Amino acid sequence: MNQPGGRGRFITLEGGEGAGKTTSMNYLCERLHDAGVRVLRTREPGGTPLGEKMRELLLDTQHTALHADTELLLMFAARAQHLHEVILPALARGDWVVCDRFTDATYAYQGGGRGIDSGRIALLEDWVQQGLQPDTTLLFDLPVAQGLARAGRRGELDRFEQEQQAFFEQVREAYLARARQYPQRFRIIDAGQEMQAVQRQLDRVIDSWFDAAADPVEA
Ligand SMILES: Nc1ncnc2c1ncn2[C@@H]1O[C@H](COP(=O)(O)OP(=O)(O)OP(=O)(O)O)[C@@H](O)[C@H]1O
Ligand SMILES: [Mg+2]
Repeated sequence: MNQPGGRGRFITLEGGEGAGKTTSMNYLCERLHDAGVRVLRTREPGGTPLGEKMRELLLDTQHTALHADTELLLMFAARAQHLHEVILPALARGDWVVCDRFTDATYAYQGGGRGIDSGRIALLEDWVQQGLQPDTTLLFDLPVAQGLARAGRRGELDRFEQEQQAFFEQVREAYLARARQYPQRFRIIDAGQEMQAVQRQLDRVIDSWFDAAADPVEA
């Protein structure tokens, strides 16, 4: 159940606070595992011991003076480590990689939210990723207030979760703009629906991967 050429499939999960990415990741990885796929699940920022330390720095509410450029560079520093230590070796082995947030989150949060020009983000993306892109990006989209209400139930807020509604509206808009820009790669999941309905949407995407693998012409 591997990709043509033996490389694993690279899947990213994106969306705002409380959209259901982590919840859906469990479902997605379980379904892939049951189908006999070797799956590596990981997340950003983080995914390596060093990257998880950078994640702590990024989410720490004490860092009120963290400049947007520093935030951006930390994101890509963690990503470089993650790619070389975890993601690229896994894909080369033929494993599928499912990653909770990746570079589209950088365009959404540091671009849309913080206002960094997307051209500057693209420079770092090219530098660090050297052309690597996810094969599929699932964008969990829902109204900001609904996502915040879900996330808020978890208790203490991190440095991003403490932002205002307008910030999250810009994040959502930037994500949707990315999906419009790369329609082949993105699948938009209506994440405002109840869990079972979200899972049915995921089923359709998963089935499309397996159908493509069964038909070499389409794969
Ligand atoms: N479709 C759904 N309907 C209702 N509640 C949901 C749904 N999906 C997830 N939840 C609940 O909403 C909360 C947030 O979900 P989850 O942690 O998966 O979101 P997330 O996108 O990973 O958030 P974050 O970006 O903050 O990590 C959890 O308590 C989860 O149980
Ligand atoms: Mg999560």
